[in-house]
Amino acid sequence: MTEKIRAKISGIGAYVPDYVLTNDELSRMVDTNDEWITTRVGIKERHILKIEGEGSSYMGERAVRQLFEKTGTNPDEIDLVLCATVTPDMPFPATASIIADKVGIKNAMHFDINAGCSGFIYTLITAKMYVESGQFKKVLLVTAEKMSSIVDYTDRSTCPLFGDGAAAMLIEPSDDGTGVIDFIAQSDGVGRNYLYMKAGGSCHPASAETVANREHFVYQEGRTVFKYAVTHMAEASVDVMKRNGITADTLAWLVPHQANLRIIDAVARQMDLSPEKVMINIQKYGNTTSATIPLCLHEWENRLHKGDNLILSSFGAGFTWGAIYLKWGYDGK
Ligand code: UT7
Repeated sequence: MTEKIRAKISGIGAYVPDYVLTNDELSRMVDTNDEWITTRVGIKERHILKIEGEGSSYMGERAVRQLFEKTGTNPDEIDLVLCATVTPDMPFPATASIIADKVGIKNAMHFDINAGCSGFIYTLITAKMYVESGQFKKVLLVTAEKMSSIVDYTDRSTCPLFGDGAAAMLIEPSDDGTGVIDFIAQSDGVGRNYLYMKAGGSCHPASAETVANREHFVYQEGRTVFKYAVTHMAEASVDVMKRNGITADTLAWLVPHQANLRIIDAVARQMDLSPEKVMINIQKYGNTTSATIPLCLHEWENRLHKGDNLILSSFGAGFTWGAIYLKWGYDGK
């Protein structure tokens, strides 16, 4: 009997810029300190793209080139390019199209997905649907975020949180039982009041006034977002685990969005998971929005085995949240 077509991740590339912004350097920019950032959030440093005139596609392109080299992929094979980002190079065209052009992809359809920090989860679900339709064989999923372009480095409540980075993945059909098995994903528009960037869209186009009012930056009501994040990330992760009969023993890894170490710990606790089963690299990169989960998978790639049970879980602007259960598709080298 042939297995149902599933969508699996079959390779990963990543890129972070060279410049490292430490907590100590931030402490000289705003009224903060390493102790507060480390204990309240868990971040020690983040990478920042400092090249004038370059945006998210610069990093996405580099992640894709690494992925193609690692997997021996020819750009002509790609039939769909999806890019998750809240920091597109420009409002249009899609950053997916800019990256596709830079790496020489000519036979594909491309578009961007904006789902805040759940960008990766939502985009992987989207890729899964396209692959399972049977019509798309090689999907390129990119997450690319130049968060430093929308962070106010005079606002201590948000500037320590975010970093820049990108990752790229191939999503392909699998008929051996590996790949995305189940997901839970949901949104609640109430989040638009608590996490947003006010200006630069059609309501408040850029003007001297919006610039003077510092409205082109991330605004977050941290405490409220924190509460929603813990509740929904934990609920989605526990529910997807239970309904697939996965236990703390049979789960190989939880791969959580990296926004705050305290959120990650709370989610892991509710799943009864020991800390050794949780991928955490927030201390090095901060919150790279849609790139956090892929940056973890890239870092842990060599420790993953075909058939490992993974739960990927996120919460972000919208609000958006979700958890994906998948069986990993290949042995790390
Ligand atoms: O990824 C997308 C979704 N986003 C999230 O999941 C983020 C969720 N929220 C959070 O992670 C946390 O709420 C933050 C890390 C943003 C803030 O941590 P918190 O523990 O909620 O702090 P707070 O905003 O309640 O502020 C506590 C205190 C305040 O001082 P008072 O009023 O108690 O005197 C702040 O002014 O900490 C102060 N504070 C700081 N102190 C030193 C805020 N930011 C800083 C800072 N350095 N950078």
